[in-house]
Order: sequence, then C-alpha cells, then structure tokens
Amino acid sequence: MNEVTEIKPDFSEIPTLDSDVFTAPLKRPEHVGEDWLEPKQTEYDSEDDAVWNDLFARQMEILPGRAASAFMEGLDRLDLGTGGVPDFKELSESLDKLTGWSVVPVPMLIPDHVFFWHLANRRFPAGNFIRTRETFDYIQEPDVFHDVFGHVPMLTNPVFADYMQAYGKAGWRAMEYNRLKALGALYWYTVEFGLIMEDEGLRAYGAGILSGPTEAVFSVEAQSPNRIMLNVDRVMRTDYVISDLQPTYFVIESFEDLYRKTVERDFERLYQSLPVSFTYANSAVIDLDDVLNVGTQEYLLRGGRGSSARPV
Ligand SMILES: [Fe+2]
Repeated sequence: MNEVTEIKPDFSEIPTLDSDVFTAPLKRPEHVGEDWLEPKQTEYDSEDDAVWNDLFARQMEILPGRAASAFMEGLDRLDLGTGGVPDFKELSESLDKLTGWSVVPVPMLIPDHVFFWHLANRRFPAGNFIRTRETFDYIQEPDVFHDVFGHVPMLTNPVFADYMQAYGKAGWRAMEYNRLKALGALYWYTVEFGLIMEDEGLRAYGAGILSGPTEAVFSVEAQSPNRIMLNVDRVMRTDYVISDLQPTYFVIESFEDLYRKTVERDFERLYQSLPVSFTYANSAVIDLDDVLNVGTQEYLLRGGRGSSARPV
C-alpha cells in the first residue's frame, strides 16, 4: 500500500508524498511555493472586468428557477455582481464571517494533494485568469468566473461548506488507497454537476453547471440525460466526461442528505471495496439505481459537442 506520510491531524502542513503515490505531472511555476498560491491576485484590466460583468449578467438571465435556492441565497449574500472580477480579499472577509472559508488565488490547476490540503483548511483555490471574448461561451480549464461565480456562493451554505472541507480530508485517504479516480467522480457528480430536488422541482447546485448557460438549462430541463438519486458507492464507480454535457446527473434530497451519504460513511472501508478503474459507463442506468428519469441520450447519440446536435 502507498504511504502518505506525516499527516498532521489538524492538516496544518502539507504532508510529504512518497514517490510511489501518483499525482498528475503538473509543473509548478517558479514564482509559487509548495502551496501553489500566487503572491497576489492578478490585476485585471477594464476588458477583464467587462467580461466578468457580461458573464454574470448572462447567468442571471438563466439561473432563477434553475439554480438551487442555496446558490441564489449565496449570490445575494456576496457582492459578486457588476463590479468586475471580485477582489479575493474582500470576498474572503465576507465568506469568513459566514462559514470561515476564504478564496485564494492559484495560477492553474494544482496537484490533488495541494488542493485537498487547501480544502481541509477551508481555503478554496481559484484560478487567477479570466477567459476572453473568444472563449466567452466555453472553456475547458476553469477560470476565475467558473471558480468564483460557480463555486463560492455554495460555500456560504454551512452544511455544504463542511462537506467541502471533509472532502479535502477524505482526499488524503483516497491517495493512500490509490482511489483518487473514485473520489474525483464523487466531486464531479456533486460539487461540479450535482442536482438537488427542491419542493418546486429539480435545481442545479454544481459549479460546472451554474457557470455556463447551456448546461444550466440542459441539466434540469432536457430529455437527453438520465437523472438518478445519488448513491455514493455507485457514483464512485462511474466514469465521467469532462469535455461535454453530462449524460447522467445525480440528485440529492438536501445538503444534509449529501453530508450523511458521504462524510458520515466510512471512507476507508469504501475505498477498500472499490475497484481501481471505473465499472459503469457515464450514460448507464443500472438495476440498483433509484431513477428519476431515463434519458433519451439524443444529444449524445447525435454526436454531442462539435456536432450539430442540439442540447435537448
Ligand atoms: Fe470547478
């Protein structure tokens, strides 16, 4: 078994990884230290701020009635609106008062173990750059709009804020058992692409959904995707697609439900029972699923992104 050495119980320091623990081969820029934090946030110009404001305005046309009420409440509590890219220091002060979280700038995607360490300390690493007009509609690498607009409002919700911290801590155990892919699938189908069943109907709380216009509609209204109640063991065995709309969404009843099904589980036993690779295709519906609807998969079958398929 791999070793992740010297994890302090309070996660105050980044543990040293043994050489046989696999991490993505990311090259650390010279100007950042072991924590991968930028010394300061980028100074955005007026065009950057205009891109932020336009992205914000576009989402606000689409999200009411489709985004989870916890997300909309979070937006109300934080001043993310029309003032350009938010200042992380001011944002962190507001967030700290609500749930003790902060937002810290990083240059790019960062290694898993460093990401987990920040989450375990209630710090959310956010990309420092913002997309351009050319990539206004879609970028694959998360920028500051995805990271801050998509993720930070949910961090104002106390239960979700605790879930994110617990996820960071669980990350270390996953590395020890070589089950990072499984934990990555859980993140994908909850934090990035999760749906919640509210009294008024299905709503989205995942940042990957809420930071773009197309999937915000597709995820809750289209006929193509499957919608299945969240089952952690099942989700952690399920493949996921990073470059297109999801063929399947997993639905929670509440954030307390999410917390119970994940954090209150014995992750160690779960990791021990999981296979190394994924078992289920991302469009599969299996016998044990508690299914809300089986999708037509029309969008996928017609070719998905890059084809003329409409997201229906
Ligand atoms: Fe994200």
